[in-house]
Amino acid sequence: MERELALEFVRVTEAAAIASGRLMGRGQKDAADKAAVDAMRAMLDTVQIKGTVVIGEGEMDEAPMLYIGEQVGGAQFPEVDIAVDPLEGTSLVAKGLPNAISVLAVAPRGGLLHAPDMYMDKIAVGPEAKGCIDIQAPIADNLARVARAKGVKIEDLTVVILDRERHAAIIRAVREAGARIKLISDGDVAPAVATAFGQSGVDMLLGIGGAPEGVLAAAALKCLGGEMQGRLVPGSSQEVERARGMGLTDMSGVLTQNDLVRSEDVIFAATGITDGDLLRGVRYSGAKATTHSIVMRSKTGTVRLVEATHVLARKTFLK
Ligand code: FBP
Repeated sequence: MERELALEFVRVTEAAAIASGRLMGRGQKDAADKAAVDAMRAMLDTVQIKGTVVIGEGEMDEAPMLYIGEQVGGAQFPEVDIAVDPLEGTSLVAKGLPNAISVLAVAPRGGLLHAPDMYMDKIAVGPEAKGCIDIQAPIADNLARVARAKGVKIEDLTVVILDRERHAAIIRAVREAGARIKLISDGDVAPAVATAFGQSGVDMLLGIGGAPEGVLAAAALKCLGGEMQGRLVPGSSQEVERARGMGLTDMSGVLTQNDLVRSEDVIFAATGITDGDLLRGVRYSGAKATTHSIVMRSKTGTVRLVEATHVLARKTFLK
């Protein structure tokens, strides 16, 4: 993929963030999601790619736009697969809580796992702890290895976990091992990415969240030299069938970083909607909006933090 595409993709997440950020705190998660989807869909057609949505808003009969298999882009070449989440953290925007982002990942065709819409057990760390984690090992062992790799005590590590009943055992194990915990109400992509940035104060993400979000986070960590591992957690026989239909037969198998993102050439872009560990949310000021984004390419390892000021009246996706 050409390097110029990276900036094109960040324009796409910026658009979705600007459109949905307006609805922060209104308690309207569906409206915020729709605003993000509409803007992202419109902007994707301005990018010179022949794209296929492989992770999106659902199956064709469930979602009017950005459904799995939808063709996007304004060219015949390059052929790419796109994973999108126009609004990752719908409740976060509805409540004005931190870490809602608009996010996408792009790779040459076949480069991203076609993750079914089901749960995935996840462990994610930044580059210093790459190669030290094993999703099958006890949590205390993972924490000890990560602490050693980072040259700190387990007590100094901060683990982000979704605040869910299903995580009671994980939370207990992390507490017993002595690490610090940050429980979040939603949005596990942003903290997974944050593990790769020392200043974020996040060392590890643990627990069960969406499988599509797992692929998006893995794409970011591939660019950043971190690591993510996953394991599908189907909730019904229909979900098992759906996974099989997408070529995933071993339900208990470990999905490594390279299973989640096969390509060595992946672009990841995200824009903050609400303020977060890594990205600031959208600021509106009269006729303008300011966005804060991250865009990166695994091929070169370049990471760009982009602050942009937008003249709202000239944004066609808002009309
Ligand atoms: P939205 O689909 O509302 O944006 O929620 C996103 C999310 O919080 C993910 O970040 C996370 O992986 C997943 O939902 C957790 O699912 P659940 O809320 O069912 O525990």
